[in-house]
Amino acid sequence: MTEQADKTGQQQGAKGVLHVAIVMDGNGRWAKRRRLPRHAGHRAGVKAARRTVEACVALGIRTLTLFAFSSENWGRPSAEVQQLMALFIDALNQQVPELNEKGVRLTIIGDREQLPADLVRQIEESEAMTADNDRLNLVVAVAYGGRWDIVNACKGLARQVADGELSAGDIDENRLAAQMQLAGLGDPDLFIRTGGDSRISNFLLWNLAYTELHFSASLWPDFEPKELEAVVGSFHGRERRFGKTSAQVSGDYA
Ligand code: IPE
Ligand code: IPE
Ligand code: MG
Repeated sequence: MTEQADKTGQQQGAKGVLHVAIVMDGNGRWAKRRRLPRHAGHRAGVKAARRTVEACVALGIRTLTLFAFSSENWGRPSAEVQQLMALFIDALNQQVPELNEKGVRLTIIGDREQLPADLVRQIEESEAMTADNDRLNLVVAVAYGGRWDIVNACKGLARQVADGELSAGDIDENRLAAQMQLAGLGDPDLFIRTGGDSRISNFLLWNLAYTELHFSASLWPDFEPKELEAVVGSFHGRERRFGKTSAQVSGDYA
């Protein structure tokens, strides 16, 4: 990429793609191809996540949401689940001080009640350390499911109704959105899934309503910043119509 194109990319990144959400899939297959244990793939996946965070900062992206562990991933063999929980603790411990220096604000979304206590402690410390940063919002979804998120948001509204703070008739999309895990962070503009499968796998069901989708054949540990730059670049060529006509969104229609 030439310097000029790179500069343009940065400007466009800041202007167009404000929020990128990624399903980081393919760690196990990456390891299998190398005859390594699955865990080696997850460790390589952490490195890819780190590269991607830095690439997002360089591109001027405001929010990066990474799917690290789904509500369905609890169904994996318990040894793999335990290794993943330990890996999350290590990754936070090792990486958050450096991310903090780069101005990254970390938020973990998902059902914390399901997580081991030592991971919850590490999450709380990491969030507190980075709370005042504003260069990039890094959101990591752990023990997260899109259906759980919607149910949890409904429970929040039901409590408000039960407490007399809200009447059922006043419930609308904005009030439900305010109870969702990504409240205040905006819906993703661009969704990327690596690993070759074209599915959402219970990621941000509510927030992806009008997100542009991109499915990559790369296994997550092989995902490189140049691929991210290319996908972000192609995003700028897409017309987002949000249900309207092309003439309306291009301004030709009064
Ligand atoms: C994604 O990689 C990471 C998690 C779901 C925790 P996978 O572990 O799903 O890798 P594949 O899909 O088996 O290759
Ligand atoms: C999606 O990957 C979840 C994460 C990347 C955390 P999975 O490997 O769990 O998805 P499926 O099972 O192929 O749909
Ligand atoms: Mg997978």
